[in-house]
Amino acid sequence: MERLQKVIAHAGVASRRKAEEYILAGRVKVNGEVMRELGTKVSGRDQIAVDDIPVYQEEPVYYLFYKPRGVISAVSDDKGRKVVTDFFPSVRERIYPVGRLDYDTSGLLILTNDGDFSQKITHPKYEVDKVYVAKVKGRADNKQLLPLTRGIKIEGQKMAPAKFQILSNDVSTGTSIVELTIHEGKNHQVKNMLKAVGLPVQKLKREKYGELTLERLRPGDYRVLSKKEVSQLLNLAKKSK
Ligand code: URA
Repeated sequence: MERLQKVIAHAGVASRRKAEEYILAGRVKVNGEVMRELGTKVSGRDQIAVDDIPVYQEEPVYYLFYKPRGVISAVSDDKGRKVVTDFFPSVRERIYPVGRLDYDTSGLLILTNDGDFSQKITHPKYEVDKVYVAKVKGRADNKQLLPLTRGIKIEGQKMAPAKFQILSNDVSTGTSIVELTIHEGKNHQVKNMLKAVGLPVQKLKREKYGELTLERLRPGDYRVLSKKEVSQLLNLAKKSK
């Protein structure tokens, strides 16, 4: 038996907090009856519905995906472009990406059907580190990147302090490779941060998410996350609260 809000969150319908709001608002039915009590326990045989739409109780699943460039971090696209779930034709659960990578960004993306997990590890207050490697235009030097470690403001919005490392400078092409570690997930954050210090991004890849890496995967490949990896991610999120 599981708590009703947890089951709704696990089904990917809403975060646990949103599910609680739905319950209190009388939008949730269990076996046809409106259920407004937050602590209610339900089993896999109970029929749950939100706004009269049935909630399918799926086993939670977690995947680590190497997103190629030129793919949308979504489950569908009205312009018919390739989306990340196109790479999971044999997965029956209704998985979706945890956070987003831009269309032209490659790298590590987690997909799951567990809304609760997704919300926990993407919440900025939990601070799961993400490591990006960017090819930037310009000859990067430490002095130029230093403001990013203090946290800069972009269009009035404060970015949390980041860590950086210059991996190489290519004098012949006038480009550099920079590694940036951040824990937030604002839209185009890495591109905007590097642009703000005069280093526009030409190519971007997410190499690490918490302790997870892309080891042994090629673009378009995925693998199941082990139970240990899932709980490590949740622990990391809790620790950094
Ligand atoms: N920051 C970006 O600018 N783009 C991404 O895809 C991810 C982080």
